[in-house]
Amino acid sequence: MSNIIVSPSILSADFANLEHEVKELQKYGADWIHVDVMDGHFVPNITIGAPVVKAIKPHCEIPLDVHLMIENPQNYIDDFVKAGANIITVHYEATKDMTEDVISHIKSQDVLVGLSIKPKTQPQEILKYLLMVDMVLVMTVEPGFGGQSFMQDCADKIPIIRQNAPENLIIQVDGGINKDTGKICTQLGANSLVAGSYIFNSTDMEEAIKSLKG
Ligand code: DX5
Ligand code: ZN
Repeated sequence: MSNIIVSPSILSADFANLEHEVKELQKYGADWIHVDVMDGHFVPNITIGAPVVKAIKPHCEIPLDVHLMIENPQNYIDDFVKAGANIITVHYEATKDMTEDVISHIKSQDVLVGLSIKPKTQPQEILKYLLMVDMVLVMTVEPGFGGQSFMQDCADKIPIIRQNAPENLIIQVDGGINKDTGKICTQLGANSLVAGSYIFNSTDMEEAIKSLKG
């Protein structure tokens, strides 16, 4: 059994057939379903919100991993919890001087809490929160779009976080992840891989998911 949590991003899925898409992902071995929420402010793109999480929830037997790329995430956490999110990740850069409060708020909702950093944010800035969160999400592309190229210098943040983290911290990476870049990240200490285009563009989804598990 692999210890790598594979969380396929439905950003690359067929939005007209999400029920089918999430069922396929589960059938082929996904551990979580990664949902990319974008608001057109924190990132230039707009995607989906809590109503879509609510719509897919009845079809998901595995946890919904919700990645909030939005400003003022504190205003939307309750909506995503009600919709069925199991893991809620906010961006450190979007929490401004309220990082601790936002983390506590998510924790109080009985879901797992993740804190994400964009490529230009140094890992040292979030070390003081490592004991408070369940997961750190290291972005390996600028958030906003699927299908971008993996940035190695972002992956180099992983060991710094791992060395300072409690044993059970999940370190997730997201952006340009495939079999090879996923391996680079797991060797550096990541244990959760998000992948969108690699999984959905592959001709064999089961094999693609399996290949990420190492
Ligand atoms: C990017 C999103 C990612 C994206 C990954 O802002 O957070 O989850 O869907 O897509 P790929 O795997 O295509 O880079
Ligand atoms: Zn994401």
